[in-house]
This record gives sequence, structure tokens and C-alpha cells, in this order.
Amino acid sequence: MANNIETKKKKIVSGMRPTGKLHLGHYLGVIENWVKLQNEYDCYFFVADWHALTTKYDKTEDLRQNTLEVVLDWVSCGIDPNRSTIYVQSLIPETAELNIYLGMVTPQNWVERDPTLKDMVKILKTKEGTNSQISYGLMGYPVLMSADIMTFNASIVPVGKDQVAHLEITRDIARRFNHIYQTEFFNEPVPKLTQVPLLCGLDGNKMGKSLNNDIKISDDEQTTAKKIMQAITDPSRIRRDDLGHPDNCEVAFKYWQIFGDSDTIKIVESECKKGERGCADCKRQLGTVINERLAPIREKRHYYENHIEEIEQIIEAGTNKARVEAQKTLKEVRKIIKIY
Ligand code: TRP
Repeated sequence: MANNIETKKKKIVSGMRPTGKLHLGHYLGVIENWVKLQNEYDCYFFVADWHALTTKYDKTEDLRQNTLEVVLDWVSCGIDPNRSTIYVQSLIPETAELNIYLGMVTPQNWVERDPTLKDMVKILKTKEGTNSQISYGLMGYPVLMSADIMTFNASIVPVGKDQVAHLEITRDIARRFNHIYQTEFFNEPVPKLTQVPLLCGLDGNKMGKSLNNDIKISDDEQTTAKKIMQAITDPSRIRRDDLGHPDNCEVAFKYWQIFGDSDTIKIVESECKKGERGCADCKRQLGTVINERLAPIREKRHYYENHIEEIEQIIEAGTNKARVEAQKTLKEVRKIIKIY
């Protein structure tokens, strides 16, 4: 009976490229959402190391470590390996096989007009070096993403806005596959947009590793406190008792609104407006609040950093589970295509 209920849960697949240690933008924008979805859905979360290769095929020395860091962050933030399947993309060769079949039924112009892919190509072309070569593999980015999702015949894909264009192609591919082979086997997966409380970086730009304006989940308390002190505030305030404008406080007050409780936010706002709260004191207090929120996550991360073999075991167990499912799908797909 329990098993029956299990199988009725809808499947969710989502992945993240192994960029290394994750920051608070990832946590609030993506991971926190995944953590909630675990209650309702049969979740598959994977590290998209093949997708990393589409642009960084010549920079692989940190790939293994970065993959571990990503899973470390996920598990510390509450992705539960007992409820969700956590795996590494490149350990599921069935996805590569499905990628071949899907590639055959995907018209070339579908990938060529993918706006997100076009952006990636444009950015790469402005960069120097080997990476300015646009590879055949990169052009297959949305097809490979479709293969990730369709390996488990998932119906829902939690992603950010930038990934929606890829997913549109996924639905087109699923429909076309079903049409060509006269089957209803594949679902047409829909995106589930994350309600991003868009967390900007310390300088007010989008938070990102390359801009060096991020706070890592794995940063220690001291580092976090120091970084918060750099957060931009109301630029019109010079002296401590100048009247402040929380609405114009470019970063610090925005962080308060995300991390503070409603009573504290009200106090911060009114003290700032009356010139009773200096920016430095304000940010010192903010740092403490953010550190308190992250303390349990960091404690867990600290434990796993010292027991990395447990992370490796989580990946191995998740991968084994994912492969069983993937093999079932591929067996069916081969039958549908009538391949030998
Ligand atoms: N392209 C996604 C990103 O950069 C990562 C990804 C790869 C993914 N395959 C996926 C996300 C399948 C959802 C489903 O964020």
C-alpha cells in the first residue's frame, strides 16, 4: 500500500551545474524551494557535470571537487537523501543513450533558435581562448536537458526563469517523439518557477561568484560578518545621524527584509529614518541575524566536510536508485523505437 502511494507521487527532476561552493542566492532562490518540494513529490536532484562540459570542456581539474561541494551544500541545506534521489549526471549512461535518440528527432533549427542558448553562445564568443569555440555538444544543451528530464519521465521541473526556453524545447521534443513513434509514453514536462526573493549581491548587482559579491553557504561567521559590512546602504547618508531612507538602501535593508522578522524590520526602518541607527551598527546586527539563520546549515556542513565519505555514499546510493529507473525507461524507449 505504502508503495502504491509512493508511485503515485509526481516526479520532479532538476539539476545544477557543478560550479563549486554555492552562495545564498542559490540557497534562497533554488535549494529552499527544492527542500519544500520533497514532501509532495518524488524528487530527483542531480549535479549536471556533462552540462558543465558544454562550456568548460578544457577546464576539468576541479570538476570532481566541485561536484562534491554542490552535494555537500544541498544536504546541509536539507535535501534529504532518504526522500530525494541525489545523483551525478555522468554516472547515468542511460541519459546519454536517450540523448542520442532525442537528438535524432530534434530539428536543428529548434536548438538554433533557443534564446537562452543563443545568449550562452554570444557570451562565449566575446571571450578569448579555446572556450570561444562553440562545440557541437553545446548546441545540444537543450536536448541533453530534455534527456535528463525524460530519463525519469518527469512531469515537473523546478527551475529559474532563464531555463524556461530550454524546457519549451523539451516539451516539443516529447510531443514530436510521441507523434513519430505513435505513442503516448512521454509526458510533456512543465516548469515550476521558483518564487525568487531575488537576493542581490553585496554590491547591488546579481549575486554571483564571478562578481565576487556573494556570501557562500560555507563561509564562516567571521567572513560573513565582514562581507556584510561591505554591503551597500543608503548612498545619501554620510553621518551617523543623517536621516536615512530604507527604500534607497540598496542592499542592507533588502537583506533585512529577507532575513529579519517583521518586528525587527519595523524597528530598523524607523530608527534609520530618524537617524538613530548608523549604517555600520545596522550591518553588524544584520550580520548576526544572518549568521544565526545559517548556523544549523553550517554545522551540518562542517560535519559532512569531515565525513566526505558519507557524501560519496549518498551519491552512490542515489545513482544506483536513479539507474534502476533510467533502465526501465530506456528499455521501454528501445521497444517503442523498435531498435535492436
Ligand atoms: N541548465 C540548468 C542550469 O544551468 C541545469 C540543468 C541541466 C537542468 N539539466 C537539467 C535543470 C534538467 C533542470 C532539469 O541551471
